[in-house]
Amino acid sequence: MIQEEEQTAEQIAEQNERESLYIVSNFAEEFFVDNLHNTEEGKSIALSYFKERGFSDETIKKFRLGYSPEKRTALTDAAQEKGYQKQYLEKAGLVIEKNDYVFDRFASRVMFPIHNLSGRVIAFGGRTLRTDKKTAKYINSPETDIYHKSKVLYGIYQAKKTIVEKDNCYLVEGYTDVISFAQAGIENVVASSGTSLTVEQIRLVKRYTPNITILYDGDAAGIKASFRGIDLVLEEGLNVKVVLFPDGEDPDSYARKLDSDELKEYIEGQAQDFITFKTNLLLEDVKGDPVKKAGLIKDIVESISLIPDRITRSLYLQECSNLMEIDEQVLIAELNKLRRKKFRDKAREAGHTNEETEIPEASITSPTQQDVAKDNFTDIEFQEKDVIRILLTYGSQNVELPAFTEDGEDETVPVNIAQFIHSELGADGIRFENKLYQKVFEEYSEFLSRMETPNEKHFINHEDTEISTLAVNIFSEPYALSKNWETHMIYVTREQSDLKKTVFKAIYSLKLKKLSQLVILIQEKLKYSEKEEEYTELQQQQKLLDDAKKKISDVLGRVVLK
Ligand code: CTP
Ligand code: MN
Repeated sequence: MIQEEEQTAEQIAEQNERESLYIVSNFAEEFFVDNLHNTEEGKSIALSYFKERGFSDETIKKFRLGYSPEKRTALTDAAQEKGYQKQYLEKAGLVIEKNDYVFDRFASRVMFPIHNLSGRVIAFGGRTLRTDKKTAKYINSPETDIYHKSKVLYGIYQAKKTIVEKDNCYLVEGYTDVISFAQAGIENVVASSGTSLTVEQIRLVKRYTPNITILYDGDAAGIKASFRGIDLVLEEGLNVKVVLFPDGEDPDSYARKLDSDELKEYIEGQAQDFITFKTNLLLEDVKGDPVKKAGLIKDIVESISLIPDRITRSLYLQECSNLMEIDEQVLIAELNKLRRKKFRDKAREAGHTNEETEIPEASITSPTQQDVAKDNFTDIEFQEKDVIRILLTYGSQNVELPAFTEDGEDETVPVNIAQFIHSELGADGIRFENKLYQKVFEEYSEFLSRMETPNEKHFINHEDTEISTLAVNIFSEPYALSKNWETHMIYVTREQSDLKKTVFKAIYSLKLKKLSQLVILIQEKLKYSEKEEEYTELQQQQKLLDDAKKKISDVLGRVVLK
C-alpha cells in the first residue's frame, strides 16, 4: 500500500489557498469567454477583433479566448455576487485594490488565458484594442501562488500531444504567434511569454521531446542577445534548431500571409542547426579580424562545451572547424581547456583541492596501438565487429576513391561505403565467424542489391532483438576503444574527418586477421605433415599468404599510420 505523506496543518492551508486561486481563475476565464460570445459589447468589440485577426471559432474555443468588459468592476462585481472572496480575486491577480477601491486588472481587454499542463487556468494576458501609445498593449497577471512565470510556457497544454507526435517543439515569442501557428496546423508550438528562456521552461519541453526549434524574428542584435538563453538549452541536452523570418515578419504575421502548406515548407526549409547558425552569424562580424575571430572561437566552443553528449560535441567541433576554417585540433584543445576549467570549478565548489581533481591533458592515442594491444591473435571478433560498426554507422556515406581513367590520369570517384565493404569482402570470399554479424551483413547486402541503404532506425528497431541490441550497442557506445571522454571524442572526430582511412583500416584489419588465422592453421598443419608433397604445397600456400599479409600490412601502414 502506498503510504500518503502526512500533511501539516500549514501545508493543508496552503493547498486550500492555492485551490481557491484556481477556482477564482476558472471563474474569471468563464466570465471572459461568456462576455466575448454572449454580450453585445463583447461581440462587437472583441469577437470582431479576433475575427479580423483571422482567428477561427475553433481556435477561439481551443485557446479559451475571452473579453474583459470596459466597466472597471465588471469581473469584481460578478465574482462577489457569486460569493467569491475579494482576497482570492486579489491574490489571483485578477483585481487590484487601491484605497478601498477594488477594480478589474484587465478591464477593456481581449483575454488570453494561460493554462498549466493539466489545462487549469493559472494566469491571463490581456491585450488592449486601443491604439494610443499611452495604454500598455499587453498586461499580464503578476506572479501568484499558482503562477510562476519562469516555469510556464504559453500553449503547452494545447501543444503537448503534438509535441510528442512530431518529436519537436517550436518556440515563439507570444500569444498571437502560438495561436496563428496552431491555426495553420502547426500545433506543437509554445511561447516563453516575453521572458528569456529559463531552465524550468526548457525542462518542461524536455518532458515531451529533446528537439526544440526556436523561431526568430527581429534583428541580429536581438538574436545575439538571446544566445545566452540558448546555451541553457544546449546545456540541458536538447537539440536546438533555429528559423529566421523575413524582415518585418514575425511568426504570427507570416503564418497569416502564407497558407498552411507554404508555412510548413518555409519552416522546414529554413530550420538550421543552432551552432551552425550562431557560427555563421558571428563570423560575419569578424571578417578579416584575427583577434575578434579568436574571441569567436572561444564563444562558439563554449556553447559546444555545454552539450552533455560527447558524440554530438565532437560532430559540432568538426562542423565549426570547417565553417571557421580553423584546424579542428585547435578547437579540441580549446574545448578541453574549458571542460577542465569547468571541472575544476565544480570540484572547488564541492570543496575539493586542485590536485585531486586535475584531469590530465587529453592524450591522442592512436586507435591502432590500442587495437594491437587488444589483439590476442586468434580472436577475430574485434575486427569483425569493427567492420559491422563501420557498415552500420557510415554505410550510406561515400568515400572518394581513385579511378584510373583510360588516358591514365588519376581521378577520384565517390564510392558508397557499404558497396565498397561488400565488394572488398566478397572479392576475398570473407564471411563473418560471428553468426549475428553475418546475418546483419547479409541483410544489409539485400538492401544494396535493391540499390538502397537501410537507415539506422532499421536495425535499432529490428524485430530480431539480438540485432536491435547490437545496433543500439553500436550507436550508443561505438567508440569503445578508450575510457576517457576526451580520447573518445578525438577518436570520433578523426574517424569522421577521414572516413576513407576509417573504412580501409577496418576492412584491411579484418583481412589481415583472416590471413593470420590461415597462416596459423597452415603452420599447425606443417607441424604434423608427413608427406613430402603435402609439405611443399603447404609451404607454397604459406608463402602466398605471407606475401598477401605483407601487401595488406603495407596498405594499412600507408593509410592508417601516416
Ligand atoms: N507581447 C507582450 N507584451 C507586449 C507586447 C507583446 O507580451 N507589450 C507579446 C504578446 O504575447 C504578443 C507577442 O508578444 O502576442 C507579439 O507582439 P505584438 O506583435 O506587438 O502583439 P500583437 O498582439 O500581435 O500586435 P499587432 O497586432 O500590432 O501585431
Ligand atoms: Mn503581432
